[in-house]
Amino acid sequence: MNTKRLITQLVSLFLFMNCAFTQQSVNIIPQPVFSELKNGIVSIGAQTEIVLINKDAARTVAYLNDYLAKWTGYKLKIVNQPVKDPAITQIIYDIKVKADAPDEAYGIKARDNTIRLMGDARGLFNATQTLLQLMEQNASSDRKKISFPACDIYDYPRFQYRGMHLDVGRHFFPVDFVKRYIDLMALYKFNTFHWHLTEDQGWRIEIKKYPRLTQIGSMRKQTVVGKKFNPFVGDSIPHGGYYTQEQIREVVKYAADRQITIIPEIEMPGHALAALASYPYLGCTKGPYEVATRWGVFPDVFCAGNDSTFTFLENVLDEVIQLFPGKYIHIGGDECPKTRWEKCPKCQERIRQLGLKDEHALQSYFIQRIEKYLNGKGRMIIGWDEILEGGLAPNATVMSWRGEEGGITAAQQHHDVVMTPGKYVYLDHYQSRDSSEPLAIGGFLPLNTVYGYEPIPAKLSVEEAKYIKGAQGNVWTEYMPTESQVEYMVYPRAIALSEVLWSQQNKKNYDNFLNRLKIEMKRLDRLKVNYAKHALGIKGDVNRTKEGIIKLSFSSRLDGAKIRYTNDGSEPGPNSEIYLQPLTIGKSMTVRARPFLNDQPYGNEYRQDFIIHKAAGKKVISKFAPGKEHNPGSDFALVDGIEGSENSDDNNWFGFSGNDLDAVIDFEQPVEISSFGINFINNPRGWIYPPSSLSFSVSDDGMVFRNVASKDSFENKRLLKIRMDVTSLKARYVRVIAKNAGKIPEGKPGAGNDAWLFVDELLVF
Ligand code: ACM
Ligand code: ZN
Repeated sequence: MNTKRLITQLVSLFLFMNCAFTQQSVNIIPQPVFSELKNGIVSIGAQTEIVLINKDAARTVAYLNDYLAKWTGYKLKIVNQPVKDPAITQIIYDIKVKADAPDEAYGIKARDNTIRLMGDARGLFNATQTLLQLMEQNASSDRKKISFPACDIYDYPRFQYRGMHLDVGRHFFPVDFVKRYIDLMALYKFNTFHWHLTEDQGWRIEIKKYPRLTQIGSMRKQTVVGKKFNPFVGDSIPHGGYYTQEQIREVVKYAADRQITIIPEIEMPGHALAALASYPYLGCTKGPYEVATRWGVFPDVFCAGNDSTFTFLENVLDEVIQLFPGKYIHIGGDECPKTRWEKCPKCQERIRQLGLKDEHALQSYFIQRIEKYLNGKGRMIIGWDEILEGGLAPNATVMSWRGEEGGITAAQQHHDVVMTPGKYVYLDHYQSRDSSEPLAIGGFLPLNTVYGYEPIPAKLSVEEAKYIKGAQGNVWTEYMPTESQVEYMVYPRAIALSEVLWSQQNKKNYDNFLNRLKIEMKRLDRLKVNYAKHALGIKGDVNRTKEGIIKLSFSSRLDGAKIRYTNDGSEPGPNSEIYLQPLTIGKSMTVRARPFLNDQPYGNEYRQDFIIHKAAGKKVISKFAPGKEHNPGSDFALVDGIEGSENSDDNNWFGFSGNDLDAVIDFEQPVEISSFGINFINNPRGWIYPPSSLSFSVSDDGMVFRNVASKDSFENKRLLKIRMDVTSLKARYVRVIAKNAGKIPEGKPGAGNDAWLFVDELLVF
């Protein structure tokens, strides 16, 4: 070893000990199968060379250099021959060492001035991602010097299908964003991009044979505002866009350069309004149709009785096949109402002719006919789990979204399965129950739930489990109108999913993951990804003292952060009050708080309006328990000074399925009362109804109550804030009864089921 190198290494070691980390293993996401730190360090800088032994890695090396150029400002020289004991570091792209290594496996051996990456083309791309994480974590601020510990890594994925989906139908996203989406996927070793290209609200792929699909179908005249469906409020802003075939080829190549396969989705027979608006002959009623301006499921679908529907779809698929070289074409199959088929002479004639049992069998015929066509062209279909209904097409892969049942059934029938159950991987669901969350479609899917997902259902046998090829995060964009909102919903939850899909089960540990995520967030910051910071951000807990005083306390996982807050509604800044102990909420106020790291705001803001009224913090008992998914956990939440927001999934709402609200507040002594209040949600689409009647009664002994206010009709508004004045009275107990609406009436979503009653905050003034 020459002296110069020794000095370089000592200097690096010194730097490393001072400013890097003291760790037992490398900090890689997703967690590798095997990694071990070795003595010494390796350094990369502008002089480092790449040795391209495995020529299959040429595109990956080009990718690496592009990445480095953007990040460090330099590219590395590519040479053909490794040097023994080189003077400057060489990154060797070598062939795979173990012939029987699993698909996509790679090895890294980093020592002194040699970083050897071993694998086939896909393995070496994965190795490059691991290398980039090591580099990002250990770069000097000017990136001239990148030093990390010598190490051995051997790694391969647990699942072969590691997917992310993007709905560009509900909102269109330009090519540059789609590329960025793919770029981010690549960092976490995803290998499949499911591109949802057609929807009721927009057709996004140019089809040369049918120009109206993009002339008409790619544009809607406006979009529903928030959740104002009934009565409908539109934004009067046309929304549209599509990808030309040239752009699609460009994206396909871009993804392939990152070892990502794209699965295009062309939806049928449902979610087809944009196609029908373009070519009304494709529908049962022949229209006229309009590209949808609101979200939901629409009765007008492709006519299954008309052969020209199939001619159209085959012609479309011919062009799709030309654009997408991957094995799979996704044909949708979900959420296809059968109402038009039931009335359509052609559809009914088809059922008679083929002796089909019903309209579900007709859907099965539809999918099987398309499958046969695509199989004939050497392609395989994937469909949403509804394609099980009426009989599964012989070679279909099932994407299980309405839970895991569809996937289980398909695996038991020896069909390949991709798991995408709503409860674990629908990244359009809320990730926090804070009422300050931006509007989302619903649900609740925090980071730890994604992380805890296990794609192989316990009830499958070992043999059946082999059909579970992997899982995918779904990103439906009804409530993601902007690129930054997509990133907010996807990251970091997609990173948690990457570990579900890649890492061995025994390597998973949520706490450890959060520590690695904290490091990775620095890269997300550098890349200006608008990721959600709940995992490290601030959490507010509201409690009451024995004396009925409401207290607000904060916590944060962020080491060294100071929490600063205001209680006058103003934005917390570096000079705002520092949080030291639980705050007393003695009067109505707006509290805003945020962690600050070195005087810089970090993470999500906590923001809460408190309304302090006479019952706030008092004793309350609800006779019935709310349903499990809509239970804030303690009756105190009925009087915690926080009102439920428009979002029925926020954690303030008490949701009673079939049951009434029957609650008694005990003030422990008589109090003067001049008015009552209570809030409800009214959202029949979500099976949530106002009560059939509401009454407030009072008592001095808690036994005999007299009615003082009641009401049995309610406005047609989503958020009902009921306020009722009474002639001033004095009482110790207040009883509130809100009668559940009962069974959902015919003609409404969920007809015949128990209605939900959503209640929050019982107010007394
Ligand atoms: C789906 O979420 N409709 C597949
Ligand atoms: Zn028809």
